[in-house]
Amino acid sequence: MLVLGIETTCDETAAAVVSRDAEGRGEIRSNIVLSQLDEHRPFGGVVPEIAARAHVEQLDLIIKKAMAEPGLMFSDLDGIAAAAGPGLIGGLIVGLTTAKAIALGAGKPLIAVNHLEAHALTARLTHGLAFPFLLLLVSGGHTQLVAVEDVGSYRVIGSTADDAIGEAFDKTAKMLRLPYPGGPEVESMAKKGNPKRFALPRPMLGRPEPDFSLSGLKTAVRLEAERIAPLSNEDVADLCASFQAAIIDVVLDRVRTALSAMRAAKRAPNALVIAGGVAVNRAIRGALQLLSTEIGIPLVLPPPELCTDNGAMIAWAGAERLARGLTDAFDASPRARWPLDGAGTRPKESAGG
Ligand code: KG4
Ligand code: ZN
Repeated sequence: MLVLGIETTCDETAAAVVSRDAEGRGEIRSNIVLSQLDEHRPFGGVVPEIAARAHVEQLDLIIKKAMAEPGLMFSDLDGIAAAAGPGLIGGLIVGLTTAKAIALGAGKPLIAVNHLEAHALTARLTHGLAFPFLLLLVSGGHTQLVAVEDVGSYRVIGSTADDAIGEAFDKTAKMLRLPYPGGPEVESMAKKGNPKRFALPRPMLGRPEPDFSLSGLKTAVRLEAERIAPLSNEDVADLCASFQAAIIDVVLDRVRTALSAMRAAKRAPNALVIAGGVAVNRAIRGALQLLSTEIGIPLVLPPPELCTDNGAMIAWAGAERLARGLTDAFDASPRARWPLDGAGTRPKESAGG
């Protein structure tokens, strides 16, 4: 089974072809990602109108490359998948409409994929992982702990009350006048800093529900920065290190709580999987590795290029759905909001954006 996947939810224009064999093993045949970082950098964040325009300009070419690399024509495909949400509505319209046009023209089924579902299923493409597993999804827009029980069956057991972790990294970087995007900058400054210099809060630590809250931590960083201003390079490094150490403590505690909840419900997961842009962070990966050894659960880390937004994960989620006969009508509409718990319910025209 060959599926083309299109990803345009945020600031990456991406397309990929993935195959899935009868045993459910996946293979990436092509995976083309064009980042719009340079276009958004001057504004210090993603500008929705610029993103939508860039998707319109680049998507055809990206799809052409994704098809040309494995030497395929649309008639060779078994399905066309596109991320239909959640995300920025302009980009979603571009990606989903393009997928519909290709599917209609080539007479192939359409699969409208939930972007979060695609992150959730990536570990099955890379590691052939069996259900159930626990997913820690940490990106600029999302921070969730998800019990992944089957294709289309996801239980969000923890989420954030305010900022996403990636957003907290980005806002911290902005406060400390580090370049955009902030995550990688904070990580590299943290390496040079003292994580114990500032006693920052660990919000939600020890709470029985595995939820997150990051805004208090972000405010604490701002107050410390204001208190000791003007900031030297060393101050910035120490603030970054202290911030990242607080994030790691919170992540470990919340993951432990989620694991206990799954075990108590007799749904012990086969593995802990991490996805999303923040999953690239080496300090967080390392800390989770230690936790996995300590509590005896395998940690599955997809390669960084499959943790951040990409077309292969959309194509794979499309293939997993297609293999179960789950396709979508041509009136499927893009959804700016589409909670993962509702991934089994499909987007309808009446549901609106
Ligand atoms: O998944 P992603 O590429 O896009 C979405 O948000 O959907 O994630 C981007 C986020 C940004 O907030 C970025 O700052 C963060 O991931 N990020 C990192 C690192 N690399 C990227 N956060 C912490 N450490 C990193 N090394
Ligand atoms: Zn994403």
